[in-house]
Amino acid sequence: MRLWHNKTVWEKLAREDPYWAVLTLPDTTGNRWEIEQFFATGRENVDTDLTYIAGQRPDLRREHALDFGCGVGRLSQALADHFAQVTGIDIAAPMIELAQKHNQHGERVRYVHNPASDLRCLPDASFDLVYSVITLQHIPTALIRGYLREFLRVCRPGGAIYFQLPAEAPVQPWRFSWYPPTLWMRFKRWFRKAAAIDPEMVMNALPKAEVIALLEKHGGTVIDTRPDHAAGDLESWSYLVTKK
Ligand SMILES: C[S@@+](CC[C@H](N)C(=O)[O-])C[C@H]1O[C@@H](n2cnc3c(N)ncnc32)[C@H](O)[C@@H]1O
Repeated sequence: MRLWHNKTVWEKLAREDPYWAVLTLPDTTGNRWEIEQFFATGRENVDTDLTYIAGQRPDLRREHALDFGCGVGRLSQALADHFAQVTGIDIAAPMIELAQKHNQHGERVRYVHNPASDLRCLPDASFDLVYSVITLQHIPTALIRGYLREFLRVCRPGGAIYFQLPAEAPVQPWRFSWYPPTLWMRFKRWFRKAAAIDPEMVMNALPKAEVIALLEKHGGTVIDTRPDHAAGDLESWSYLVTKK
């Protein structure tokens, strides 16, 4: 049910306004992203993150990178400037279709549609870098834990995992407000969200201590964490992990 909801919401968002759903800047709603500018943000993000990762792990092999929650390929396309091969994976089929359409790197970048709560479509120990930003925060927490375990499985020994995840979820203001005023209207709103009739981009989080404990338990060594602003004012961290 959680996976169905996760997938249905993202497929709807991807059909309605895919570039805005990927990068929600205020004046970009209604399919107003300029495509070249949109992909330039990906190159900027990846360059910054890879400079940081190289500072911590100068020895990292650059054969194959995984972009988990690749969307329309904003980051996978940029990762292809640094890795021989890139695989982008996403739960939403319309995102994958657009990513394929925007692919500038031929067979060096492949996109995989994965409507599953694990990464069983990917072999063990196959990636030098597992990379995921502004994605885990939109996935139900029970599923996040599973994907983190899978990141460790698909990363090769000596490889690295870099991901961003908030440690604090937002308070839902409507829970404390008088609007909508009637129980029926409240139920209707809850139902429309639960049935993904009104797709909502939810923000989820896991406490930092829990994330670190999980990673260490499943064969990772957290070599650094740094605060980021990917989740607005919420406490959010980027984790850099080495697979033992
Ligand atoms: C905000 S977008 C970010 C896309 C990309 N990381 C970027 O920064 O350009 C979040 C992406 O995560 C994908 N996603 C959501 N739940 C997922 C899941 N369970 N597995 C894989 N991808 C998922 C969505 O379909 C969407 O493409």
